[in-house]
Amino acid sequence: MSLIDTIREKAKSDVKRIALPEGDEPRTVKAAEIIRAEGLAEPILITPESIAADPRRLESYAALLYELRKAKGLTEEAAAKLAAAPMYYGMLMVKAGDADGLVSGAVHSTGDMLRPALQVIKTAPGMKLVSSSFLIECPNKALGENGLLVYADCVVNPCPNAEELANIAVATAETARKLCGIAEPRVAMLSFSTKGSASHELVDKVREATEIARGLAPDLLIDGEMQLDAALVPEVAALKAKGSPVAGRANVLIFPDLQSGNIGYKITQRIGGADCFAVLQGLASPCNDLSRGCSVEDIVNTVAATSAQA
Ligand SMILES: CC(C)(COP(=O)(O)OP(=O)(O)OC[C@H]1O[C@@H](n2cnc3c(N)ncnc32)[C@H](O)[C@@H]1OP(=O)(O)O)[C@@H](O)C(=O)NCCC(=O)NCCS
Repeated sequence: MSLIDTIREKAKSDVKRIALPEGDEPRTVKAAEIIRAEGLAEPILITPESIAADPRRLESYAALLYELRKAKGLTEEAAAKLAAAPMYYGMLMVKAGDADGLVSGAVHSTGDMLRPALQVIKTAPGMKLVSSSFLIECPNKALGENGLLVYADCVVNPCPNAEELANIAVATAETARKLCGIAEPRVAMLSFSTKGSASHELVDKVREATEIARGLAPDLLIDGEMQLDAALVPEVAALKAKGSPVAGRANVLIFPDLQSGNIGYKITQRIGGADCFAVLQGLASPCNDLSRGCSVEDIVNTVAATSAQA
């Protein structure tokens, strides 16, 4: 079964309510029909009209937003205005427990969706950081977990420090386990150096992050710093990282920053011919972003993944 089929099956087994704040966007409307027909989720299309039709709910969401953000200087008047915007309304719907997750991004940029998610939904208990996992299905089944790899962070955190990088590694292993069904995540902390082959402060950060992650998740198979070839190719691992429990067989790849992560997944997709699919992790309720060039099928799949995460 392909990864997306696994995710769809998971979504169908426990149908969740997913808010769609771009509820009058044509691809989203079409996707909602398919999602409902296939029983993947209960889509909630949010539009300016649907918001205006329920003034009492809007009022309660505005009060909720004011409570959440007053310490940050948000006035009641500004909260009322913001709550009526579909993106904030959708986030507040999730926060209030009236929806289980949210998908947007067919129209809005990543930042336009992430900022309200961070402000309203916030991190899950025990999580300090929101980040993302890219689920990668490679044509070469010898790589990762039968061709499946999980990359992070390719979407959210531009310059994670060592502690943040460690948090990303642990959260990504959890996503690999829970959403992708990878029973034994093997996490490689990537760098341009393998086990001390180069010295640089950028390498030191990855080494430090590896140690912190080991402390956070002592049972997790995690190793670094290592180069991409040492992480994936057994012959290279035998030369460069002998004895590593991860090198040569990694299925989770942690990039040192957003530039390398974002470039890395696009190389995998465009040159390597892999299917790539992103989810956010670390939020108290799942919210996921679409690319503005997304197809109806991309929206359906992202809603299914959000439902499976919920
Ligand atoms: C995620 C992002 C939008 C945050 O923007 P920002 O300018 O840091 O936003 P703010 O500083 O206003 O932060 C908003 C809130 O979220 C919190 N926050 C920011 N990043 C966070 C993270 N990764 N995890 C948890 N909370 C975070 C801030 O602490 C702040 O909380 P507060 O307002 O309650 O104090 C920004 O890092 C970003 O644009 N990242 C890149 C996204 C992108 O363009 N990706 C392209 C690849 S597709």
